[in-house]
Amino acid sequence: MSVNIHFLGHAGFVLTAGKHTVVIDPFITGNPRCKAHVQDINATHIVLTHGHGDHFGNTIEIAERTGAIVLTVNEIAEYLGEKGLTKLEPMNPGGRVDTGFGYVALTQAFHSSSYDGRYMGMPAGAIIHLAGKTFYHTGDTGIFSDMKLIGEIYKPDVAMICAGDRFTMGPELAARAAEMIKPKIAIPIHFGTFGLLADEDTVRRGFKPDGVEVKLMKPGETFDLG
Ligand code: NI
Ligand code: MN
Repeated sequence: MSVNIHFLGHAGFVLTAGKHTVVIDPFITGNPRCKAHVQDINATHIVLTHGHGDHFGNTIEIAERTGAIVLTVNEIAEYLGEKGLTKLEPMNPGGRVDTGFGYVALTQAFHSSSYDGRYMGMPAGAIIHLAGKTFYHTGDTGIFSDMKLIGEIYKPDVAMICAGDRFTMGPELAARAAEMIKPKIAIPIHFGTFGLLADEDTVRRGFKPDGVEVKLMKPGETFDLG
């Protein structure tokens, strides 16, 4: 079965395969480059990498409307529980949870994580195994050499790699990361959304990993992974 990959913009994706729709980091309201409307987002599962507003985004309202299961770091799951959500899978980096479509595992990320003035546990990256395909979303992170190990363990088909600099890796380090992860396709993310981040031209010029196909997606763009 093929997986349809839709880029919401920034770090947000919607992955669809058959009856399963996995939404990652749905930052829609307040995202100047996102073309989607919150009420149009369908989800059976939401994967949230960390608590920052540009990732947490519209998680609560999408989960409330769709009844999606939210898979996220323990402290964020506790917070979502206090907000009334009940379909929660608390996790932490290193752990894996089996799902109706495959599994979700969290990886480490070197970053910070807070929301609503509260500590939100460790930030994470996410591995999503859906319809026989494996995705590695780095979350927000600096570079770390265990990305090579993550690549060896999970063998991702697609890696979504933060490349906007300042808060995460910039394009050159993101390219080094892609060379360690060795996915079939690398999609740079977390750039161009705000003035503080590297723009698209900078990422296009700087994100050139050796031996890895790069797919630079525009917000709203979709492709099928067969
Ligand atoms: Ni962040
Ligand atoms: Mn971010």
